[in-house]
Amino acid sequence: MGNPTDVPEPLVIEKLCEAARDERNHRYSVSTGLFNLRREFALRYERKHGVKLDFDTEVLAGLGSKEVFSHMCLALMGPGDTAIVPAPSFPIHIYAVALASANVISLDCTQPDRFLSSVSAVAEHLYPKPKVLILNFPHNPSTTVVERDFFVDVVKLARRFGFMVIHDFAYGDVCFDGYRAPSFLSVPGAKEVGVETTTMSKGYNMAGWRLGFCAGNAEMIRALATIKGYYDYGIFQPIQIAGILALRHGEEGVERQAAEYQGRRDVLVDGLERIGWETQKPKAGMFVWTRYPQEWRERMGSIDFAMKLLEEAEVAVSPGRGFGEAGEGYLRLALVENEHRLKQAVRQIGRCLRGEKAAG
Ligand SMILES: Cc1ncc(COP(=O)(O)O)c(C=O)c1O
Repeated sequence: MGNPTDVPEPLVIEKLCEAARDERNHRYSVSTGLFNLRREFALRYERKHGVKLDFDTEVLAGLGSKEVFSHMCLALMGPGDTAIVPAPSFPIHIYAVALASANVISLDCTQPDRFLSSVSAVAEHLYPKPKVLILNFPHNPSTTVVERDFFVDVVKLARRFGFMVIHDFAYGDVCFDGYRAPSFLSVPGAKEVGVETTTMSKGYNMAGWRLGFCAGNAEMIRALATIKGYYDYGIFQPIQIAGILALRHGEEGVERQAAEYQGRRDVLVDGLERIGWETQKPKAGMFVWTRYPQEWRERMGSIDFAMKLLEEAEVAVSPGRGFGEAGEGYLRLALVENEHRLKQAVRQIGRCLRGEKAAG
């Protein structure tokens, strides 16, 4: 339901076809990503975030950010270890830790200052201390965002308590109203304590291509490369070659795509407000996170409510409960349909809740 429907730039698709016609591009590739891909990625990070990366030791390309994120968890944790995970939770943030046989402590991340106080309290009192702090801002599903100072405090806490940080920065390319999501790596000392994962799925519309990155602490990157060396033989080379072109020439397309999501956000939130749902406009991401009306919350949980909308309004939404207990009472609505379809979806939800039949 959060599956992007827009397409990559024609130039990038053409490059993919051209590279696929080259007989040299069908063998196993380098499991950490082509030299030129890692270099182009590092150049873009410097342009966009002012972060200098050694693309040999501090950058790894993988099969999407979910893959590098989960294998990083496997590389860092084992039985008896603990990770702090933001709640409500994007499922892989929980399951990657569980798959590594480690324990999860979920902390509400919707108020970033309070989240940090809770992280500090847990790190102070838990024995053994948490090994990893997982972050994700702009956050999926709650759309919570942070400013750069937040990461300054994260680095201080990581140094004080000795935990590592993995920042899932999947929505760093999709920001609205002039907000720029800060990179964790842009803070001094971040590279000493952690890594950041990013993706070409969102801003570049390359979700099915499976192209993502992990950058930052060289030792953590080396551990991830070791694990990946056991699991895979890298990304299909034509995809990497087209990815290089996208990183080099795709910035305008990324901006255009963010503007597209912003327009959809406005249509959806304004529509929801019109049918009486109080909804905050997110500053970033591909989703709207909203509490459905109290009269319905009293009658049914978010899973049943989402089923009702699916069956009676013919609108698919994600129930908040799918993101853990902290998501109960909420729905996550994806901005992957065009404005016309979003208006139609809101109309159908309104009719359904008034007891009228969906118009189809
Ligand atoms: C927070 C978050 N992280 C990671 C991903 C996965 O992105 P990728 O396509 O790079 O694996 C998503 C996509 O839905 C996401 O919402």
